[in-house]
Amino acid sequence: MSLDGEWAFLLRDRPEEVAADDLTGPTDGWAAIEVPGCWTVQGFDRPQYTNIQMPFPGPPPHVPDANPTGVYRRTVTLPTEWEGQRVVLYVAGAETVLYVHVDGAPVAMGKDSRLPTEVDLTGIVTPGVPFELALSVVRWSDATYLEDQDHWHHAGLHRRVFAYATPPVHIADVHATAGFDPATGEGRLRTVVRLGADGHGPRDWTARIELGGQEATVAARFEHPTDSLTNWLVFDGRQAVGEIVVPEAAPWSAEHPNLHDLRVTLLDGDGSEVDTVSLRVGFRQVEVVGHELLVNGRPVLIKGVNRHDHDPRQGKTVTPEGIRADLVLMKQHGINAVRTSHYPNDAVLYDLCDELGLYVVDEADLETHAYLRSLLKDPRWGSAVLERIARMAQRDKNHPSIIIWSLGNESGSAPILHAAAEWLRQWDGTRPVQYESSIGEAVFTDLTNGGALELGELMSRPTPESDLVVPMYPEVPDLVSWATRTVPDRPLVMCEYIHAMNNSCGGLADYWDAIRTHPGLQGGFVWDWVDQALVQQLPDGTERLAYGGDFGDEPNDGPFCLNGLVDANRVPHPALLELAAVIAPVRIAAVDAARGVVRITNEYDFRDLSHLLPSWVVDVDGTAVASGELEPLDLAPGVSTTVRIPAPRVDLQAGERAHLTVAFALAHEETWAPAGHVVAREQFPVASAPGPSTAPDAPAAGPDLVALQPELALWRAPIDNETFAPVLDPHAARWERMGLRDAASVAELATSVTDRDGAEVVVHEVVVPEGVDDIARVGVRLSLGAGVRSVEWLGDGPHEGYSDRSASTRFGRWITPVDEWAVPYVHPQASGNRTGVRWLRFLDADGAAVLTIDELDGGSGDGLDVTVSRWSQEEIADAGHLEDLPDVGDRDGCYVWIDARHRGVGSGAVGPDTTAEHRIGPGSYRWSYRLR
Ligand code: GAL
Repeated sequence: MSLDGEWAFLLRDRPEEVAADDLTGPTDGWAAIEVPGCWTVQGFDRPQYTNIQMPFPGPPPHVPDANPTGVYRRTVTLPTEWEGQRVVLYVAGAETVLYVHVDGAPVAMGKDSRLPTEVDLTGIVTPGVPFELALSVVRWSDATYLEDQDHWHHAGLHRRVFAYATPPVHIADVHATAGFDPATGEGRLRTVVRLGADGHGPRDWTARIELGGQEATVAARFEHPTDSLTNWLVFDGRQAVGEIVVPEAAPWSAEHPNLHDLRVTLLDGDGSEVDTVSLRVGFRQVEVVGHELLVNGRPVLIKGVNRHDHDPRQGKTVTPEGIRADLVLMKQHGINAVRTSHYPNDAVLYDLCDELGLYVVDEADLETHAYLRSLLKDPRWGSAVLERIARMAQRDKNHPSIIIWSLGNESGSAPILHAAAEWLRQWDGTRPVQYESSIGEAVFTDLTNGGALELGELMSRPTPESDLVVPMYPEVPDLVSWATRTVPDRPLVMCEYIHAMNNSCGGLADYWDAIRTHPGLQGGFVWDWVDQALVQQLPDGTERLAYGGDFGDEPNDGPFCLNGLVDANRVPHPALLELAAVIAPVRIAAVDAARGVVRITNEYDFRDLSHLLPSWVVDVDGTAVASGELEPLDLAPGVSTTVRIPAPRVDLQAGERAHLTVAFALAHEETWAPAGHVVAREQFPVASAPGPSTAPDAPAAGPDLVALQPELALWRAPIDNETFAPVLDPHAARWERMGLRDAASVAELATSVTDRDGAEVVVHEVVVPEGVDDIARVGVRLSLGAGVRSVEWLGDGPHEGYSDRSASTRFGRWITPVDEWAVPYVHPQASGNRTGVRWLRFLDADGAAVLTIDELDGGSGDGLDVTVSRWSQEEIADAGHLEDLPDVGDRDGCYVWIDARHRGVGSGAVGPDTTAEHRIGPGSYRWSYRLR
């Protein structure tokens, strides 16, 4: 019986203020609130975003005096058919402490915001008779110190609430272990049916276990009412245990998520059905063998993301539809794994990962970040730690998608964590255990000793509480050092890497080059899936996407919660497209692209390629001139083959370039994508004719260079990676000190203009002086007057690209409205760069060219970096939110930056900074273009 919906709600300032009358008295005048839901997004109190720091001052276990406490009230009448049954209340999640009162009497309390509290109400309530149910939720508690994750702190009943009934003698739980032997193909289902009864249980009852036409009927065992010898030596728990062997089982994996219906029925002495439970199981085997994480005997590459439960309007309350949309989007982008950072996610997630096929690292609700190295060393927290971990495993154990248990995040190193790891291994031998922080501890210890040791070495140390090496944010050289210093003895799967904060994820391809070439490196989880922005209504009734501090939440960590591969409304950031290109399950490499010879590698772990239709296109400067389809390849997992594409030779005019694009698309619909969905695509240059690139046409009289007011540009509105990193001296602050905003005070732009057939050929030269190192760009800014609606260009696109994030962009002829050129990152920052631009045209509302700039050249013949924006870099940098950008009104002119060099984006806020080859230092720069 669902208890979701509208409840009466009263918010008190502190738990002590909840009066006896609040729990039973009239609720006239109380507000109405939706359950499930966080009160912090329903007009009460406020959400608060903090990263490492606690949301309130400590020290632990101190809780602030001002401690909002919500009382949820509802009159409940249970169905009369439940008479004589056992009755249970199920509260799926309450942040952070739950108290349950029935008719004013206390009956239960629960902690752990992300796990359920189940309350047996049998004998306390009578079916058919109304009772007053009060669920009181206290916002801050000692538990908050164990839940100090980097996310929004909300409050309330954020997951569903329901009541259910079982017979007095009942199935209390089912623990189904569906093992798979890859050598024989045999599946073996061991089912432990836990039984419950009031007092001594019955004798001669049985449990029937049914799976796919097979069944086993086994004894239901209870302790003996009188025979103490039996209870001492024979009785091993109130349970029925059965095994079913399936000689040829269809195993579960993320690529073939085969599920089987399991039905368990409790039968009384007469063989009548008393209670029944149904669930879906998947046969599979997970092992760590040497340096490999094996699923069904094969080493799988973990192409994962970290995921928070987050909805931009509902906070921690997520819907089954929303979760499915997340997982479908992940699958469509080649992602095959989720780490439930940093707590057990909504229960629906696991059902859907079972069904759609995603590996899960299930993480306990444990993070003591503010007191990282001290809190868990105090044994008083020990039982809470064990309980959080054991209860997570208890809730989620039957999901085949969960292949690894995680003890939690950033909670230091402590004996209790070793105990918890061992408990998990003993209780559930079918999954390895992971935990990062002994690596973190080794790093801190090393730092306090002077920081002499390499991360590669520190990661090689034994991690007794972790069966895998799961570092966060190692740099690529650290990974290579770990993988090559000795033969790795465990697999390494990064629990977090490549910080996807706003405009970020430079260097992603470098990670995967290392992963693909070094045994032991088995992938990782990007930080993270979704921007944690919340919709905020402003006083004028408009809405904006908000971040830490916007709700007056103090202390807060500002925009640091915006790290998503997708924005809060699940619109992909270009970084997601980059990830999809880099992790695509079919690798397509040029052998001799000019002759159409490519090497295809099947990087699926279990599927062959017969479900994909290969196709190819040859284009000249973005216009297709030939195309075709190939026969599907029956290529086994892990195997490569060479394919010759019957691409014709093309004749090129001066300055033209031809490319071959090869793609693999789904031949048939899958549960997560329609037929035709492209899973892999690669583009190769095949021919080029020397000469500058000429745009198709030009306006009768475009503005000349003087009208465009050229200005040297060395700065960009810092991206968050530059605002937050390096920690001790962030680039953004350094650039301010250098005076980069005023580029003319730093270096001198020399420009020559030559007339050629009525067009201006512009050459810029600048010498960036010694000491002016690692800057944002070397370029020129032009200012276009009114009337510009869209931009067409020949170069890399269609989306934003940078020299260190270019695996997903393709060379072609693209067009976009000026207003959609940049990515609307919630925290405004430089955005929208396009690499390899050879020409561009600015078009008015009728599509006529207002200005044409072509023959872009920096000496390499590969075009230049270009950015277009309605706003100056200063306006962007000075705006806290998109809504704070000056109103452009009718100002439909724009700026264009044409750069000889533009800095990469890196991942530096937490991950590696932009690498040396994508930085810009002192020296001479020369670049040119033609204005028409
Ligand atoms: C990690 C942490 C994440 C997040 C990230 C930075 O240390 O585990 O929760 O805070 O840094 O965004």
